[in-house]
Amino acid sequence: MPKKTVPEAINYRRSVRIYDPEKPIDTTIVKKCLEQASLAPTSSNMQLWEFYHITSKETIEKIAPLCFNQNAAKTAQQLVVFVVRKDLWRKRAKANLAFMDKVFGKNNPKSEQRSREKVARNYYGKLIPFTYFDFLGVFGWLKYILFSIVGLFRPMYREVRNSDMRVVAHKTCGLAAQTFMLSMAAEGYDTCPMEGSDTWRVKRLLGLPFGAEINMIVSCGIRKPEGVYGERFRVPFEEVYREV
Ligand SMILES: Cc1cc2nc3c(=O)[nH]c(=O)nc-3n(C[C@H](O)[C@H](O)[C@H](O)COP(=O)(O)O)c2cc1C
Repeated sequence: MPKKTVPEAINYRRSVRIYDPEKPIDTTIVKKCLEQASLAPTSSNMQLWEFYHITSKETIEKIAPLCFNQNAAKTAQQLVVFVVRKDLWRKRAKANLAFMDKVFGKNNPKSEQRSREKVARNYYGKLIPFTYFDFLGVFGWLKYILFSIVGLFRPMYREVRNSDMRVVAHKTCGLAAQTFMLSMAAEGYDTCPMEGSDTWRVKRLLGLPFGAEINMIVSCGIRKPEGVYGERFRVPFEEVYREV
């Protein structure tokens, strides 16, 4: 059972830069928090993410310099590398279709397909491939121009270029990372998200394929009191809140 409620975990979570070397963390609990992370909302349920849970001291020592020797990496007990796998879109679309077979039954005659099933199968069978397929960015731009023209006359989806799809995939992965950090906080464990790293070298170290992208590296451990660098600062809430 987690030790903290959601509001308690949100307030407890701070970016911790120095972890206590005397306080190890339980790998199975961190893994459980990653399982929670995989329940984060994901664009079109495509789950274009992977979580690399680094538990060996040796690998942490190799990654810390690639995070520019930040204390948060150097003193970490464990690390999690959140990886975006936009390149797996075909596999994930297939997995969604296979799930549909399980839910609705395989090989339903077309005439018998209920409308929800039809829409869902069409979505993963046609719309997702149309949105995700690209060739050197060219097809993405063609889609963008086409969608922009149609968009003059009616509301239209706009995020179809390669760069847009990268944002979509990173957005989703960020939600998984945040879900993970809150789950860790609920357990009384600390984290620090880091985008300060040489992502190319980290990719090479983990043996990731060309299409994979590092979203962020989250260091894990238990805080030393001086590991929280000062009071939490946020601009006044009224400055960012607009009731419309
Ligand atoms: C995407 C992202 C990247 C970050 N990268 C780093 C980093 O490389 N090093 C670091 O010490 N903190 C990093 N942070 C932590 C922020 O500095 C921190 O969240 C912010 O100062 C607010 O503090 P808090 O998390 O304690 O509330 C990052 C945070 C986010 C969301």
